[in-house]
Amino acid sequence: MKEKYLNFIRGVSINKTGKTGVVLATSSFVAMLFLELLRVMGVLTNAYIGLITYLLLPTLFVIGLIFIPIGWIKYKKFTGKTTRELLERQFTDDELQKSNMGSKLIRTVLIFTLLNVLFLAIASMRMLNFMDKPVFCGTACHSVMGPEWATYQVSPHSRVACVECHVGEGVGALIDSKLNGTWQMISVTLDLFERPIPTPVHQLRPARETCEKCHWPEKFYGSRLKSIVHYDKDENSTPRFTTLVLKIDSGEDVGKSGIHWHIDQANSVRYSSIDDKRQEMLWVEVKQEDGTFKKFTNRKLVDNEAEDDNTRIMDCVDCHNRVTHIYEDPHDAVDQRIRKGLLDRSLPYIKREAFGALISSFTTTDKAKEIIHNRINGFYREKYPDLLGVKSESLDKAISTLQDVYATNVHYNMNVDWGAYPSYLGHKAESGCFRCHNNNLIDENNIPIKSDCTLCHSILANGSAEPFSYLKQATNAARDSVMHEYLRAEFLEFFAE
Ligand code: HEC
Ligand code: HEC
Ligand code: HEC
Ligand code: HEC
Ligand code: HEC
Repeated sequence: MKEKYLNFIRGVSINKTGKTGVVLATSSFVAMLFLELLRVMGVLTNAYIGLITYLLLPTLFVIGLIFIPIGWIKYKKFTGKTTRELLERQFTDDELQKSNMGSKLIRTVLIFTLLNVLFLAIASMRMLNFMDKPVFCGTACHSVMGPEWATYQVSPHSRVACVECHVGEGVGALIDSKLNGTWQMISVTLDLFERPIPTPVHQLRPARETCEKCHWPEKFYGSRLKSIVHYDKDENSTPRFTTLVLKIDSGEDVGKSGIHWHIDQANSVRYSSIDDKRQEMLWVEVKQEDGTFKKFTNRKLVDNEAEDDNTRIMDCVDCHNRVTHIYEDPHDAVDQRIRKGLLDRSLPYIKREAFGALISSFTTTDKAKEIIHNRINGFYREKYPDLLGVKSESLDKAISTLQDVYATNVHYNMNVDWGAYPSYLGHKAESGCFRCHNNNLIDENNIPIKSDCTLCHSILANGSAEPFSYLKQATNAARDSVMHEYLRAEFLEFFAE
């Protein structure tokens, strides 16, 4: 039995080309089995090895298989003999003997072909499966996806696979993504991609097919209390509280509409922006109950036209553009680490110094680590030498924390510096919600889209000394007592309704 297959292999290894084919096909087959075994055993998890196992080796295998008939054709040409004569030369009569199930040789060929097809089918299934894994998407072309991989791992979606948002379900989505992926591989190999990767991402599937699989809009959102602490840049890094009650209802169940009103099934908001950045709106339209659209036009941009047809129906990503790849603002990043206790507030001027260290350079992570270390150590050594001994642990912790913050947010090789990917969730720098909620977008009666400060959130503190300042009675002496009373009443009314 074994003899038969060995004979066959000897038979097709006719010349150099044929032999190369046999060696290539056999060795890549064995190598793939071996690597796959190691992967199943959990020894290898690296994305590059995955690429070798599922892409390189099967490709070599196929090339090997193609070499074998080429070798045969070449041999035929070279000897000038007929196929029959050559077969007789390479194989025994016994193997060529015809029976009613074909000759033994044909059966051997069939068995090998079946094995090959089976092997390739399994390899491609494994490949598709493997390519859907975040570790592949995130690390196979390491430097390119570095920023997204780093931010993804510390995000609320770190257990959600990249493909759940980027590919979605269905055959169409799969084909789209593979075509797109092939192009990406070419552009990475030839270094044709932009740094940083430009946003918005146009190939993203509609949110209905992705986000809404897990977060359905009919869900009752309620409201969300969010308390934010900022720290002053003084010696004590004094805390300042901002407390918002975000009105995140979609409105359907409660009869009052809030932030998720835009994506409620019954509503539709569409807009056109000046370019494909979705930053400067030309007009915004809202579907009315009778199915017509009410239009708000930007009075500052009436003479402009959109570069292309950029009309877009608003969905989750128009606000949650940084839902997973969350790049921090350096101020907020420091504030959050102080709050978590990773930066010790008893270190004098820690807010100011930490912030300064983070933004002091745009360079490789290794260099930046050194700069952060030297800067923090240098400052305390010079100004507070007595602290070095007592607080050495806090200082080390502060340094390593800041180094981590830098490594997650700043990616020199991809040109991702602080602020490269702003979030639309709030209204920092008049962006985010204020792209539409501003006084320039007006309807035919000159009435703008609403933007009063309590439309989206009640405000219970705003840079105040206490987290719930405005819930207390205002004292007449306070400078902002009128505003204070207004905010208090607004919140109580909102809740009581
Ligand atoms: C919860 C959904 C979600 C998951 C999971 C997710 N992404 Fe994204 N990703 C997005 C959204 C939304 C954008 C679009 C940002 C925009 O258009 O402004 C995006 C943008 C990107 C971009 C463009 C650059 C950027 O930072 O905006 C890349 C590259 C990317 N994702 C790669 C990945 C990789 C790799 C993974 C897995 C390791 C992943 N994504 C997982 C939602 C997701
Ligand atoms: C496969 C399921 C899945 C998909 C798809 C998904 N999410 Fe999530 N999302 C989650 C889970 C799980 C959490 C974490 C919940 C928690 O922390 O309690 C989450 C959390 C969130 C949060 C709250 C984050 C926070 O700060 O607490 C937002 C906002 C969100 N998702 C929006 C989106 C958007 C927008 C999309 C589409 C681009 C999306 N999600 C796609 C499962 C998913
Ligand atoms: C108009 C902007 C906007 C749109 C559109 C939008 N969201 Fe939100 N969403 C917000 C804001 C603002 C918050 C509150 C943010 C916070 O808590 O920091 C929020 C909060 C959430 C939360 C957390 C809710 C909780 O209970 O804590 C989830 C989950 C979420 N959104 C999912 C979605 C999904 C899914 C979509 C699309 C179907 C969507 N959002 C569309 C603005 C929006
Ligand atoms: C693409 C434009 C656009 C963006 C971006 C946008 N909105 Fe809106 N929003 C609208 C329009 C249009 C209305 C309806 C205004 C009207 O009828 O006066 C609206 C209405 C609202 C309402 C009131 C719903 C009601 O009728 O009671 C809230 C709350 C709201 N938006 C919150 C937000 C928040 C929070 C953000 C940012 C996270 C945001 N919006 C971003 C266009 C937008
Ligand atoms: C269209 C909706 C909308 C309007 C109008 C609006 N806000 Fe906001 N605001 C938000 C959202 C959303 C956030 C972000 C919450 C978060 O961090 O998730 C926010 C955040 C804030 C913050 C916290 C910023 C921080 O990080 O410390 C303050 C303060 C604030 N808003 C004040 C105001 C004031 C004052 C006005 C009136 C001029 C106003 N807002 C109008 C939606 C709105």
